[in-house]
Amino acid sequence: MKKRLLFVCLGNICRSPSAEAVMNAYIKKNQLNDEFESDSAGTGGWHAGDKADERMQRHALRRNYNLTSIARKFDAKIDFDKFDLIFGMDQQNVNDLKVLARNESDLKKIKSITAYCSRFSNYSSVPDPYYGGDDGFELVLDILEDACEGLLNDLT
Ligand code: 4NP
Repeated sequence: MKKRLLFVCLGNICRSPSAEAVMNAYIKKNQLNDEFESDSAGTGGWHAGDKADERMQRHALRRNYNLTSIARKFDAKIDFDKFDLIFGMDQQNVNDLKVLARNESDLKKIKSITAYCSRFSNYSSVPDPYYGGDDGFELVLDILEDACEGLLNDLT
């Protein structure tokens, strides 16, 4: 059975669509499309229906990640059943997901993405780039490339 991975941030327009794209690129590069798939969602619904933030899209495209996903709000009733592992981008996302968990099995699926970092192991969150400058978007991608590489190693 395919393992389904869900990346979750606050708005689902910056960090988690990037995590989804980076992970999908690594899955493809390692010819693991039959084994894994990834998606993303936000704990908040303000941006539901929107494309990824244009600044995030621009920075991601410079590294050949095409952010195509459309923002949606995390739905506990569907997503805890549909996904095998659910990764919060920061500690607030992890806490918000834990509050939504319906049982022990849901809780066990919730992880922090930065736990898989090696080069960026000093980060316990992917910092929210929304109100910052270019450096913040680059840092998001740097941390996510490190974390997704670690995650894929952990899963294979
Ligand atoms: P994200 O970034 O959680 O990485 O998608 C944000 C996007 C939008 C807002 C906050 C964070 N916002 O407040 O609208």
